[in-house]
This record gives sequence, structure tokens and C-alpha cells, in this order.
Amino acid sequence: MKLLLVGFGNVGRALVELLAQNRRGLQIVGLFTRTRGSLYCEQGLDSEALSALQPGEPLSNHPRLSAFATGRSVAEILAEASVEVLVDASPTILPDAGPALGWCRQALERGIHVVLANKAPLIADAASLHASAAKSGARLLFEATVMAGTPVIQLARHGLRAEQVSEVQGILNGTSNYILSRMDEGRRFEDALAEAQELGYAETDPSADIDGWDIAVKLVILSQVLFDRPIALYQVARQSLRELSSADIQNAHAQQRRWKYVGSLDESGARVAPMALPQTHPLSQVAGAQNAITLQGKTLGSVTLQGPGAGGKETALGILNDLLELQGMA
Ligand SMILES: NC(=O)c1ccc[n+]([C@@H]2O[C@H](COP(=O)([O-])OP(=O)(O)OC[C@H]3O[C@@H](n4cnc5c(N)ncnc54)[C@H](OP(=O)(O)O)[C@@H]3O)[C@@H](O)[C@H]2O)c1
Repeated sequence: MKLLLVGFGNVGRALVELLAQNRRGLQIVGLFTRTRGSLYCEQGLDSEALSALQPGEPLSNHPRLSAFATGRSVAEILAEASVEVLVDASPTILPDAGPALGWCRQALERGIHVVLANKAPLIADAASLHASAAKSGARLLFEATVMAGTPVIQLARHGLRAEQVSEVQGILNGTSNYILSRMDEGRRFEDALAEAQELGYAETDPSADIDGWDIAVKLVILSQVLFDRPIALYQVARQSLRELSSADIQNAHAQQRRWKYVGSLDESGARVAPMALPQTHPLSQVAGAQNAITLQGKTLGSVTLQGPGAGGKETALGILNDLLELQGMA
């Protein structure tokens, strides 16, 4: 299958490295970045040579450059070339998704499958993307957008297809969970946040992680998949983690409880809030940068899935799973 890959950062690079180890019949024919140029070759790019490029190095340093077209845009290649899948590993730009929404629309309208790590197109206009996919017969897959390669979307779509899920609670942001785990060990909020920033978990502006935006985005995506119920980002009620004090943490300990930053979905809506969970609750045991989700089903009762929720190679694995699903259909 011929792939166009947009984004060669943590996730895009990791995908190229996975394909360099084992191509699995997948061939990257186009690669696009914002500042480091683009490469296109109908016969395919060399994944091993691409993964030998250093992070930040211009793509024009690729050997045998004369065999490739450079400087073409994503839209031009989508319009002209025989590409089968657009993989979007460009940044999540909210609320309008930036140029990614246009690429995704164009691809799906032309019958080209779309695989997303970028969450923004699903927030900006999931309805029209799904409609375009249904019309052209292309698929829109996005396993990597929630819990990276930990297969929560597969679980919802396939494993629990026959189950009636009534409620979902999740630890869906590893950075905030890391901060809470450190607070649990006695750190103050500000120190735990600074530590997460030093480790590269949290951005300089940590609002997406600690004010609940990132979790809210994931609830919007899950609501569609689990309940077939579209909700907008502004409909997710959010309470910031900044409101939690060290005294709150100590009080919870005294009551055999542990604070977690939980995203919840049920019939009444979607919420992000710190919750003092009993230490017997499966989510209270999830420590550090891990993610987990508990789904309440009518027949099975509580089902919990835990695993990494971020990381270049973990997220690339989610993309690869979607690509293999597409390949299985071909
Ligand atoms: N990292 C994770 O753990 C994780 C987990 C789940 C989902 N995601 C999602 O996956 C996506 C990629 O994450 P990342 O960590 O790989 O980001 P990143 O390291 O910042 O890389 C982003 C890449 O996209 C390129 N890019 C930016 N704007 C572009 C444009 N207009 N046209 C073409 N390319 C463009 C950048 O180009 P330059 O190289 O020129 O800057 C860079 O190569 C994001 O949407 C993120 O939310 C990430």
C-alpha cells in the first residue's frame, strides 16, 4: 500500500523506523514537514535512509535526492498521485485543525484512506469527514489518537461490539497522572509540574495537560466511537488539576482514597475532573505516565484496559495497527 506521511517528528520518525525494520507491504511514497521540506517518489522512499536522518535534519540531506520530487504540497500529491493512504502525524492544532482538515477532506473525497495520530480533524469536523468516507468508500481510522498504541478504539469497535457500554472512566493523560503520582509521594503541585516539564512530559504551557483540554479532546473522540453520539469540545465540563492542594492529597490518603484526573462519559454527558477514588478502584492503581480506561458494560460489568498513552513508537504502533487493518481489507 502506498502511503503519504505528513509529519516527521516523534511519531512520524518512529513509524518510518518501524517500517525500516519490517515493511509489511507498506511503502511511503511521500513525506512532508513544515520546515524541513518534503520528498515524493512514486516508486517509494527508502525507509532505512530516512531513519538515518537526524531529528531536525532537512529531508534534502537524503541520499540519491535527484530521484525524488521536492517542494510539492500535500494537496498537489493527493490530487495527482496514486496514493492509497494519507497518514497524518502533524501537530494537533485546535480548534480548527489548521491545514490538516483540508488534507483529510481531500483524501477521503478521492477515496484515499486516512489514518490519524493528529486528533484535531476529529474535533474540528468529524461529521463531514465520516460522511465523505461513507460516500467514497474510504476509511477514516484513528487508533493512535487515544492512548497511543494501547488499543482502546479497537476494543470499543470490535472487542465490545456486542456489549452495551453505559459508562466510561479513564486516565487519558499521562502527564497529569505523572504529576498526581508525584504529589501522592509528597511533592507540591508546582514542583511536580516542573519535574514533568524537565522530563519532557509537559509542555512549557502545560494547559492542555493540567486544565483538562487533552482529556476533553479524547472524550469527544470516544463518545463518537462508543456511543455513536457526537459531542463538541465545549460541551465537555472541565475542572482544572490546579485546584488540587497537597492537603486534599493527604485527606484522601486518610480515607484510603487516591486522587486521579479522570475523564468520564455517560448518558448525562462528558466531564474532566480530579476525583478521589477508593484505593480498590482499578484506576487508582495506575501510576506514573500510564493511561487506563474502565468501561462499564451491561453483561461483562467492568472491563479495564491499561497501557502507555504517549510516546513516539507507542503512537506509531497505533498507526501501524490501523494500516494493517486497511491492508487486511484490501
Ligand atoms: N507524541 C505522542 O506521544 C503522541 C501521542 C498521541 C498522539 N500524538 C499526536 O501525533 C501528532 C504528532 O506528534 P509528534 O509528537 O510527532 O509531533 P512533533 O514531534 O511536533 O512533529 C510534528 C511534525 O509535523 C510537521 N508539521 C507541522 N506542521 C506541518 C505542516 N503544516 N505540513 C507538514 N508537516 C507539518 C513538523 O514539521 P517540522 O519537522 O518541520 O517541524 C514535524 O515533522 C500530533 O498531532 C500529536 O497530538 C502524539
